[in-house]
Amino acid sequence: MQTIMVYSESGGVSKTTTAVSLAMTAALAGKRTLLIDLDPRGAATDWLDLKPIAPGYHVGAILGSDEDLTGVAEELAVQSPWNENLRFIPSDRSVANREAERVDFAELRLSDSLEGLSAEVVIIDCPNRQGGLLTQSALTASDTVVYAATANRDGVKGFEGAQTSVLKFKAARKKMGTPSVLKEAGIVVSNFKDTVTSSVAKLAMQEFETTGLLIYPAVPQRVILENVRYSNEWVHLYRKGDPIRHAYEKIGEKVFR
Ligand SMILES: Nc1ncnc2c1ncn2[C@@H]1O[C@H](COP(=O)(O)OP(=O)(O)OP(=O)(O)O)[C@@H](O)[C@H]1O
Ligand SMILES: [Mg+2]
Repeated sequence: MQTIMVYSESGGVSKTTTAVSLAMTAALAGKRTLLIDLDPRGAATDWLDLKPIAPGYHVGAILGSDEDLTGVAEELAVQSPWNENLRFIPSDRSVANREAERVDFAELRLSDSLEGLSAEVVIIDCPNRQGGLLTQSALTASDTVVYAATANRDGVKGFEGAQTSVLKFKAARKKMGTPSVLKEAGIVVSNFKDTVTSSVAKLAMQEFETTGLLIYPAVPQRVILENVRYSNEWVHLYRKGDPIRHAYEKIGEKVFR
């Protein structure tokens, strides 16, 4: 099983778009996939429009439980009608309260809940938090990090902050004698204006390029993305969605093991 967190410390830089799209790309390629919405603002939950299996059985039920969590992700996973291989754990506004959790080792809960899960790929849509229980839980549960970015100042800043958090986390785990297996898959740029590329976008792409982490191609900006999001669909049903679908297929080849 590969567990991928989609992360940036900036808001509005395509984290949710990339998490949802990579999950659908994996599912369409025949991989049993679980998408987890770890953001209390629940943008992925709105997009997929799926309710928990019962009231309260969202991702907060994992983060707030001190019981044995083995197998709980499997229990909470809701089937998506988009594809037979795609299941989903929704989020909820109340998940924000979990950030105040002061119980020791609470950051292990998400990882524990994935034990015994029958999925080949898990994708976590992260909030743009710097530290805190939500981000720590994702860092602890994941073996792969994808930095989501836009080709502008916010995208670059969000990547730099996220990478600092990842490297700090790895250094701390090494010091504790329990090295993390988390690896950087790279930077995925989405919402990219491919018709007229501004000087800001060119500069941002150069900065990403110098890190050696930029994954090609950039996902082009297309109105269909906003439309499918609004109608609780993904782009695969529409010809106009092909540029986005094809870009994520290429990106998937570099991200999925
Ligand atoms: N390829 C694209 N084409 C058109 N619009 C896009 C594309 N990628 C992202 N967007 C739009 O950009 C906006 C921000 O994207 P998204 O919600 O994925 O970012 P985010 O980083 O998850 O934001 P937040 O910090 O609020 O969680 C959304 O309105 C989304 O529809
Ligand atoms: Mg989001």
